[in-house]
Amino acid sequence: MGIIYEKENQVFHLQTKNTSYIMKVVKQKYLSHVYWGKRIHTPDMENAQLNRLIGFSAVADNEDKTYSLDFVCQEYPTGCGTDFRIPAISVVYGDGSRNVQLLYQDHQIICGKPKLPGLPAAYVEKEEEADTLIVCLADPVQKLSVELTYTAYRELDVITRSVRIMNEGEADVVLEKVLSASVDFETADYDLITLPGAWGRERHIERTTLRSGIQSIESRRGASSHQNNPFMALAAKDTTETTGAVYAFNFVYSGNFTAGVEVDQVFKARAYMGLNDYDFSWILEPGKDFQAPEVVMVYSSEGFGGMSRTMHDLYRRYLVRGRYRDEVRPILANNWEATYFDFDEDKILALAREAADLGVELFVLDDGWFGRRDNDDCSLGDWTVYREKLPDGIAGLAAKIKEYGMKFGLWFEPEMVSPDSDLYREHPDWCIHVPGRMRTECRNQLVLDLSRQEVRDYIVSTISHVLDTADIGYVKWDMNRHMTELGSAGLDSRRQKEMPHRYMLGLYEVLEKIVSSHPDVLFESCSGGGGRFDPGMLYYMPQTWTSDDTDAVERLFIQYGTSFAYPVSTMGSHVSAVPNHQAGRVTSMAMRGDVAMSGNFGYELDLLKLTEEEKEILRGQIIQYKDLRTFVPSADMYRLMSPFEGNHTAWMFVSKDGRDIFAAYFQVLCEVNPGIRRMKLTALDPEAMYEVVGEDRDYRGDELMEIGLVVDCYGDFQSRTWRLKKREG
Ligand code: DGJ
Repeated sequence: MGIIYEKENQVFHLQTKNTSYIMKVVKQKYLSHVYWGKRIHTPDMENAQLNRLIGFSAVADNEDKTYSLDFVCQEYPTGCGTDFRIPAISVVYGDGSRNVQLLYQDHQIICGKPKLPGLPAAYVEKEEEADTLIVCLADPVQKLSVELTYTAYRELDVITRSVRIMNEGEADVVLEKVLSASVDFETADYDLITLPGAWGRERHIERTTLRSGIQSIESRRGASSHQNNPFMALAAKDTTETTGAVYAFNFVYSGNFTAGVEVDQVFKARAYMGLNDYDFSWILEPGKDFQAPEVVMVYSSEGFGGMSRTMHDLYRRYLVRGRYRDEVRPILANNWEATYFDFDEDKILALAREAADLGVELFVLDDGWFGRRDNDDCSLGDWTVYREKLPDGIAGLAAKIKEYGMKFGLWFEPEMVSPDSDLYREHPDWCIHVPGRMRTECRNQLVLDLSRQEVRDYIVSTISHVLDTADIGYVKWDMNRHMTELGSAGLDSRRQKEMPHRYMLGLYEVLEKIVSSHPDVLFESCSGGGGRFDPGMLYYMPQTWTSDDTDAVERLFIQYGTSFAYPVSTMGSHVSAVPNHQAGRVTSMAMRGDVAMSGNFGYELDLLKLTEEEKEILRGQIIQYKDLRTFVPSADMYRLMSPFEGNHTAWMFVSKDGRDIFAAYFQVLCEVNPGIRRMKLTALDPEAMYEVVGEDRDYRGDELMEIGLVVDCYGDFQSRTWRLKKREG
């Protein structure tokens, strides 16, 4: 395992536990892609790396009329030198020329994984957990060099890629496009899997057959977005949840991105992912470098389930940081859907008392506690307490809630400003805007220009002040609009297109400062629900509010789709009131609880309106979740039935040691006279006996997997869960 370099043939072979990724330097200069997939021995390059001149193709250089880049698989295509497929990089040199040729120079193989300066990225704790290859390419005519960095994790089938561009010349170079990964596949016999959506309907799964030409997903919204998640996979046509080949790509970035596949004239496929070149350019001065974000790449031969479990392991162990990476997350109650903006201290304390009485561990005060915020049309940016609502301030409220035996959490939306705010009146140029143009409002707010240092400093100091002057154990970091009229008063006219990426770098700087100086605070990111559910945010904040849609049925789709890339330990998931505020649907308290259990559990409803019977159910849920959270967040997840394929959804979790199991089954609509329904479990020890907790029954593993458990569900919106324990010996 590790990275092998065969000097004679100039072949790089990156190995993870079960996968190989192979490249070769052809003709001592072209870095070509050879293979990515199941782990193999280093192949015979004459067989594995075929070159062919195809009709109408030009040669790569006039010395050798047999070699064309029009056909071969490449590692970092430039769109020049006879490759007409989609390039990974576009630049304008000081002399106005645009031809980029990148030829192999040298390479370095190191143990471990270097950090990406200023950017989120997967990490290692010990050097021996991964190996890194850095390949240096350079333009033979202009003084531009490019470092391609590949890390292969030894125990996980993960390869990460990132790119650094260095201007070693004397004139500015304008980067117009810098992708982080480009992978050429020998065939296009794949389906494309993506996770599109909308507000309240995030990360639904789409599977389409590749066709000739470019098919892509992207965000131009200044956030990774609800509309398209920065995740994409290519799956063999016969790939299922449990079998088949799948290649996944996930961008560790929270802003504008592009990802896609080009199927070329000879039915090869080029997959790519990186910064969106829409409204992007970067002036790279002499001596300066540009670091592009990281792409996580996972190959699985065990279908989508295998792909997801690898990604879950990576994100839980090597992306999420801080105390709450490993500690159990508290059960929370959030006042948003209980009160919206209409609260005062008495109301909050009444809710908190009830929450504490039920066994809740963290009470979160959502939007409306600052400035003069009684609705969403003012005060963002003014992070001082609204005394009429909270006379004893945040510190006073937090202290009282602590007396009830709970932690206290607080909502912020630090990246925004309301036109009706003291901050905006004082600094009208601190928002993203274009002079002379309308400043389009969305939810009555504008986006602060985080490309500016003074804006970032303001955010760090005001938010830190609140966190440092009250006992706050949790922060919900919200972001409720996308960017329009892209422009910055802090950048000169030539650099205006740098603003969207500079914003993200600024955001990451702010997050790093606030999060690292408050190590005991649990941070949850949010963007109108799951509008920024991406690995970039998870690097700073271990959980994300999955969706503003809290309806249990809708959540089946959203959480199932989200789990394609992200583990349940990253998903905020709450029980809310019925009729549901987003969907109007009435589901049982049991189903709402069972759906929310497969995530970071909490409540988001008026606890004071519950009947005694409902409160009893809640107490039971809290006890149940306290048991589940000891293993579900770190367990292997198996999706058993997909909501996208029918009326039933099921998933299960098996602890890493195989001893603890949680399985959940959901029925959306009642099926009258359905016959006998069973749910077959998976990933159990066929020889072992399993106790079904609470049923006084034991079954053997093979029976649970081959015959299954009977599911009786009567009525619409039903659920059924099982807690199993493996018997010792
Ligand atoms: C959007 C979030 O997703 C909600 O949960 C809530 O915090 C509101 N913002 C508050 O304005």
